[in-house]
Amino acid sequence: MKFQLLYYLVLLVSTASAAPAVSSAVPAVSSGSLVLAPSISPISVATSAPVASAVTGSPVVHSSSGVAASSTQSVVPESATVAPVSSFPNDPTWSQDTTEVPEALNDGLGASIFGPENVALDQQNPDFLAPPTTDNGNIQNAKWPFSLSHNRLQSGGWARQQNLDVLPIATTMASVNMRLEAGAIRELHWHKTDEWAFVISGSTKVTAVNSDGQVFVDTVGPGDLWYFPAGIPHSLQATDDNAAGTEFLLVFDDGSFSEDDTFLLTDWMAHVPMEVLAKNFGTDISAFAHIPSHELYIFPGTPPAANEAAPSSPAGTVPNPFTFKLSQVNATPLAGGSVKTVDTRTFPVAKNIVGSLVTVEPGAIRELHWHPTQPEWSYYLQGEARMTLFGAQSNARTFDFRAGDIGYVPPSFGHFVENTGNTTVQFLEIFNSDLVEDISLQQWLALTPPELVKAHLGFDDTTIAHLNKTKQTVVRPFTPT
Ligand SMILES: *[C@@H]1O[C@H](CO)[C@@H](O)[C@H](O)[C@H]1NC(C)=O
Ligand SMILES: *[C@@H]1O[C@H](CO)[C@@H](O)[C@H](O)[C@H]1NC(C)=O
Repeated sequence: MKFQLLYYLVLLVSTASAAPAVSSAVPAVSSGSLVLAPSISPISVATSAPVASAVTGSPVVHSSSGVAASSTQSVVPESATVAPVSSFPNDPTWSQDTTEVPEALNDGLGASIFGPENVALDQQNPDFLAPPTTDNGNIQNAKWPFSLSHNRLQSGGWARQQNLDVLPIATTMASVNMRLEAGAIRELHWHKTDEWAFVISGSTKVTAVNSDGQVFVDTVGPGDLWYFPAGIPHSLQATDDNAAGTEFLLVFDDGSFSEDDTFLLTDWMAHVPMEVLAKNFGTDISAFAHIPSHELYIFPGTPPAANEAAPSSPAGTVPNPFTFKLSQVNATPLAGGSVKTVDTRTFPVAKNIVGSLVTVEPGAIRELHWHPTQPEWSYYLQGEARMTLFGAQSNARTFDFRAGDIGYVPPSFGHFVENTGNTTVQFLEIFNSDLVEDISLQQWLALTPPELVKAHLGFDDTTIAHLNKTKQTVVRPFTPT
């Protein structure tokens, strides 16, 4: 008890000594409702002080209306013992397309930059250099542009990757961006992880054989998917449907995946004693004279003929196709954009990686939500956006994205994707899961007893009535008055 009393006293003293800073900070905060309560019980100071100062970095203040509230009609609930949040809007401090040299200033905080500045990167990352004042604490970096990945150039194409080495928060998923010229081949291989793919451009012919000796061959175009479960041997080859070849995105269900340690056909063959090869295939050693001495990985080839017959297997074809024509699925229109979702309900073979292709119109927002248990890996195909991750315990951090960038959201982290540009945002939300699932903040509140919501957030009846019980997914553009 004695210790507790001392603790309260210390807090009270430290709060009092912070008081002068309160008044000087008030002009910088646009909310006019921040007033020091005339009499504060030591207990409420003790409970609210550390939280409020950790969230805003600002001195602790109390709402006098919160302390005085006695009527249930009040917009500030009787239970309120903490100051309301600042109403400073915190919209992005500059557009990613700005031609100005950005400054580290927001809401009266910060100062100009004297030292050297990587202007191009600062322009693209307003929420790093001048974060919203709602950001707080410590959330790991959740952004990786493929432009910062080391590229592996081969005759016939290239490949660059993102994994734990460069984005440590992304523990459960890694990715590869790959380009093949017409006819070029990503050699026959397999790996320990599942592989989910999205075709960005051109068309890609894929082949695979499963453990029952059933075959699969198909060609997929822009906006289509393929999926190979772990260990299934497969190949990728650009057709000449597009004279320039193909480009695609690969996602793997393990953050430590590396494109450089997949199991390649040529690599294995070059590391088996010749007499074993001869025994295994029942053929003279001379048959193996042309096996490459090291891996081919990506190499030029002749485009496959459009009418090339698939090998026929006595075991037939695989029961569930390894490709999915997402390009042929109609997007579900939403108030602020659209969504196409694909998971095991329509693409049964893709048991561990599923996702949605989402569009968000200028001014619209992929609403505040979270995914109950699924980590999210996202990839921006077009437009400019920002996302704030809320990681509990007052931790929040905002990231800016544009076409070619990767984002990551750990399971249950609250987030949104706001279109911060003038063009449509299109991005992939990919989950390490068998189903696409999310919880909408708005829908949750709309379906919770109103008095309970009012007691937490101080909403008035109009705001409560405005809550939509139907999940919006992408909310229509809204212009503040
Ligand atoms: C959108 O376009 C308008 C008009 O060209 C421009 O003033 C504004 O800065 C642009 N906004 C963004 C976010 O790019
Ligand atoms: C709620 O959302 C549905 C679906 O987007 C929409 O049709 C409806 O108009 C919305 N209701 C209100 C009150 O905004």
